[in-house]
Amino acid sequence: MKATAISSVNIALVKYWGKRDPETNWPAVGSISMTLDGLGTETTVEFDSTLEADVFILNGVERQDAKVTGLLNRIRTVAGLGEYAHISSINTVPTASGLASSASGMSALGFAAWHAAGLSNDGLLKPGKFLDLVRIGSGSAPRSLIGGIVELNQTDGSIRQLCKPQDWPIAMVVVQLTHQSKAVSSRDGMAHTQRTSPYFQPWVQHHPEDLASARSAIARRDLETLGRVMERSTMRMHACMLAADPPLRYLLPSTLTVLDIVTELRRTGISAWATMDAGPHVKILCHAEDVDAIEKAVGATVKSTQILVTHPGEGTRLVSP
Ligand code: PMV
Repeated sequence: MKATAISSVNIALVKYWGKRDPETNWPAVGSISMTLDGLGTETTVEFDSTLEADVFILNGVERQDAKVTGLLNRIRTVAGLGEYAHISSINTVPTASGLASSASGMSALGFAAWHAAGLSNDGLLKPGKFLDLVRIGSGSAPRSLIGGIVELNQTDGSIRQLCKPQDWPIAMVVVQLTHQSKAVSSRDGMAHTQRTSPYFQPWVQHHPEDLASARSAIARRDLETLGRVMERSTMRMHACMLAADPPLRYLLPSTLTVLDIVTELRRTGISAWATMDAGPHVKILCHAEDVDAIEKAVGATVKSTQILVTHPGEGTRLVSP
């Protein structure tokens, strides 16, 4: 009745924004992401017949979290289980780093709870039950279940690996630009964009082009093309939000400063490409050998709160039993 799982955050190379069905959190578009090493969540779930409610401890502090209880309830229903659980999570993502800790949090929790409930591992990552349960907690969480570069298909919810972590020596330099947490959650931001932005339908219509170009660039290990597609997908997503009513803007002036540095790095021959999610932080995709030059260039100009260097990492796995 006890299991511990570890899961990493992932950053989208081709973005997901918008939902086909808010209830089941079904995405309006597919997406492609990179699972990052070293940054994530370790979660232990233990079902206990003496408990009268779930007890959730995050980084040593007890919390109430409807998403945690919601995912556990869904797993309890599948397993036919009545017991509440002790849940203990440690985030190795720095606090308020702007990295998607909900993806690693939900995938680690789902994986640990599924195993603690004694449910079968067979076909766990096939489209259907487990992926659907995890996706309701966070639309990007299923992507963290697999390592390397991963595609999530919006038609059947399936996930598949496009490149193993060790098969391409690339890196992502994360430039954290503020400690402030975002004012609008991605869930609310998506709903608002979808409701009010005249650019939402064009975003959905053009999205398959980005997925197809990224897929073939990844197959060729062509960083230039992948980087260009990633920037295009990022800007189309933000343009869609900026055209909402009222406009939704996650980017800061310092975000644009980093984008200029990335453009300048490319002019000097370094293949560096930028992406931003529902926050101002910039993540720079590059060859692993170029991380020092990129860190130096950014550090010299921007008073960033933190620069983290990450590489493609493994998917969600059990640490025990
Ligand atoms: O999974 P959510 O609901 O946190 O949404 C993630 C949305 C973006 O990070 C902006 C894009 C993506 O595909 O990860």
